[in-house]
Amino acid sequence: MAENNSEDLDLDRILSIEIARVTERAAVAAAKLRGRGDEKAADQVAVDAMRTELNKLNISGTIVIGEGERDEAPMLYIGEEVGTKNGPELDIALDPLEGTTICAKNMPNSLAVIAFANKGKLLYAPDVYMDKIAIGPGYPEGTISIDATPAENLAAVAKHKGVEIGQVCACILDRPRHAKLIADVRACGAAVRLIGDGDVAGVIYTTDSEETGIDIYMGTGGAPEGVLAAAALRCTGGQMQGRLLFKSQDQIDRAATMGVSDPNKVYDLTELASGDVMFAATGVTDGDMLQGVRFKGNAISTHTFVMRSSTGTVREIKATHREGQKFA
Ligand code: FBP
Repeated sequence: MAENNSEDLDLDRILSIEIARVTERAAVAAAKLRGRGDEKAADQVAVDAMRTELNKLNISGTIVIGEGERDEAPMLYIGEEVGTKNGPELDIALDPLEGTTICAKNMPNSLAVIAFANKGKLLYAPDVYMDKIAIGPGYPEGTISIDATPAENLAAVAKHKGVEIGQVCACILDRPRHAKLIADVRACGAAVRLIGDGDVAGVIYTTDSEETGIDIYMGTGGAPEGVLAAAALRCTGGQMQGRLLFKSQDQIDRAATMGVSDPNKVYDLTELASGDVMFAATGVTDGDMLQGVRFKGNAISTHTFVMRSSTGTVREIKATHREGQKFA
């Protein structure tokens, strides 16, 4: 965790509108390349668009989770400063196109996402995998544990939801590494919802299980995506734990330079994202909770969630933009 060296100030309310513009613009850019089979091109236009919009904001922002290290990412790299510098100092986690492959294939649930927090309040997560478990709001604290078995976690969710375990559904990334986890969940009688990519959306699904049918997120995905998902859960309520997974001593040493002193630490939600956090996600492709970008003549419509932890407000913004003006 980064050093807790700033006061826990509320973020400027006006940012909750400004932040939507940032993800809207990235989503529109990426959506123009939906289904073209070119992940890199779609990601690049989203990055360019997000950076342009971020640099218009009156903030002194520092990217703490971005497109990678400075030498591997020319834009929105970790440590890059963004904004006009006439405004509050913020740490920023972003993914201009979360789910590059799903965008390239025009499949559900790719998003443009970003989170703002006061300095030092987001885990400076290295680009490694993270084991994650998450549930939405309404459960007693401690319902889930990353060290419990899938059967124990599913039973706890079922008990507190007041349903049979057979009525619980777990969202899991469809990966060979999850074969045992998937088998264990099914062996309990619970359902599995496999997703091809996009576990930020997977975690957010747990916050509205009536709409999505998903009660719990389980499995291993990117650590940066884990911090972004945690920022969203901080705003909606819910519980999450994550543990970084390292493949080599080099990765552990590198993480240590980013402030990760215990490689086996289990991070709770507020250790992944603390203080006042603002989160925005705009749908690129259609998803369970967010509609993808629509192009209708010279109008473009976007669907965005903007959330803020200090108030718990979740705004759903459906916007229509005119092609040839802002979104040319
Ligand atoms: P990208 O947008 O970088 O392609 O990430 C998509 C994603 O599915 C994330 O949501 C997830 O955390 C990660 O990839 C999983 O990694 P892997 O594809 O290596 O299993």
